Amino acid sequence: MLILNEEDFLAKGNERACYLHPQDKNKAIKVTLENSKRKKNKQTKMEIAYYKQLEKRGLKNWKHLPQYFGEIKTNKGLGFIVEVIRDYDGQVSKNFAYYLKQDGVQTYQKELEQYREYFVDNCIIFNYGMMPKNMLLRKNSPTDFDLVLIDGLGDVSHFTLPNKIPYFARRRINRRWMKFVRKYLINLKNCF
Ligand SMILES: Nc1ncnc2c1ncn2[C@@H]1O[C@H](COP(=O)(O)OP(=O)(O)O)[C@@H](O)[C@H]1O
Ligand SMILES: [Mg+2]
Repeated sequence: MLILNEEDFLAKGNERACYLHPQDKNKAIKVTLENSKRKKNKQTKMEIAYYKQLEKRGLKNWKHLPQYFGEIKTNKGLGFIVEVIRDYDGQVSKNFAYYLKQDGVQTYQKELEQYREYFVDNCIIFNYGMMPKNMLLRKNSPTDFDLVLIDGLGDVSHFTLPNKIPYFARRRINRRWMKFVRKYLINLKNCF
């Protein structure tokens, strides 16, 4: 069992906390917060199930998702290991809401289009977790950026037939993308 110490704490959301791996600063462990009884582990289970599916499928391009390194038992319950998203200077990347507030949405049209294409081309389904505060803007250099989805991968019904047929899956991805644009990018105040 891996012991997670408070000194390795990275950040938390409503449901999960993220700790740096004590032996590898490029890996993080996500665990469900103890007081999060609401959807008990649902999000985590869905995310792990989808990661496994992507591995099975042999996805090679992880440009817009943190890489997945499996499940792990910790003193804070069952967790899973993912790549920590860092900028070229080694800092953990900041979320997209931060940059939208600073620069507006126009600045990031290119990054948004590349990101959208990644999900459509690779047929990767995301859920309602797709929102600017769950996306990190990784700075590969002072001028080259990638958006990375850290929370919102998968679908409650990802084993159902429509998600297995690329035509229907893409239709779902496109519809969810349009909703994301309408809810968050047309109305930036919903991001903060
Ligand atoms: N791969 C990652 N790299 C860097 N930081 C991360 C990563 N995954 C999560 N985090 C940080 O941990 C926080 C909580 O993780 P998240 O998956 O969003 O949990 P929740 O489901 O509770 O919102 C994020 O808001 C982010 O600050
Ligand atoms: Mg989150």
